[in-house]
Amino acid sequence: MDAPIDDVVILLGRGNHGPAPRRQLERMAALLQASERYPLVLIALIDQGEPSLPQALDACAAAGAARALVVPVSIPGETRLRAWMASVARRWQAAHPGSTMEVVLGEGLVEQPALAPALLATAQAAEAGTDVRSAPPEGWEHDPVNWSVLPPHQLHLLTCRGPRCTALDASDCWTQLRASLAEHGLREDNARTLVAATGCLYPCSCGPVLVVYPAGVWYGRLTPAAIKRIVAEHLVGGRIVEEHRITPGVPCAGQHSS
Ligand code: FES
Repeated sequence: MDAPIDDVVILLGRGNHGPAPRRQLERMAALLQASERYPLVLIALIDQGEPSLPQALDACAAAGAARALVVPVSIPGETRLRAWMASVARRWQAAHPGSTMEVVLGEGLVEQPALAPALLATAQAAEAGTDVRSAPPEGWEHDPVNWSVLPPHQLHLLTCRGPRCTALDASDCWTQLRASLAEHGLREDNARTLVAATGCLYPCSCGPVLVVYPAGVWYGRLTPAAIKRIVAEHLVGGRIVEEHRITPGVPCAGQHSS
């Protein structure tokens, strides 16, 4: 570990499909880092990717930070989600009783008066643009044909990438899922399996959550090891892994710490 540092900033944003949101957050982190006010600026994703907020807090602690300043930068922001992220941070502290690191959740970017000049500059930059008729995207007349066709598949897997599953290390599970599907010849490119990353599927405290169709079986409180079993025993072997199954109306056992 390098010399201890006081304040580490975590820019907290929302993920989405593809690498673009992460790249944008990294660019914002580089801009803030260039101010030289903070020795370290990290990023965290609320949903749809990693690092999650608990993972970023781990990195702060590993860097020897006295304080983690968590700065929400999503626009538009979401008040309830912000409050819940404070709970995630508090649970992280409770799960690390030896850590004295403070965690401060800042106001969202959208609350900043300094946003006004940035919006003005952005609007003014658009003034210099041209009508989309002058340089339309290739193939603008029609959407791709495969957007009108349900892909052939035998298995349909719904993988939750919502905020709570993300905070519970869903990304590690879905990385393992792809690897296990490939290992057993169930990849999407041979039309055996269709994997759909979803938003919150509702039983958040049971996260990470996976749903398997056509069986209609829900799995929860997953780990990469559990995913390996589900692929080998259920998707290949046809036997539901009851140990990780969650059932409607029955609460998951125990509580997560993050
Ligand atoms: S975030 Fe996954 S079930 Fe709510």
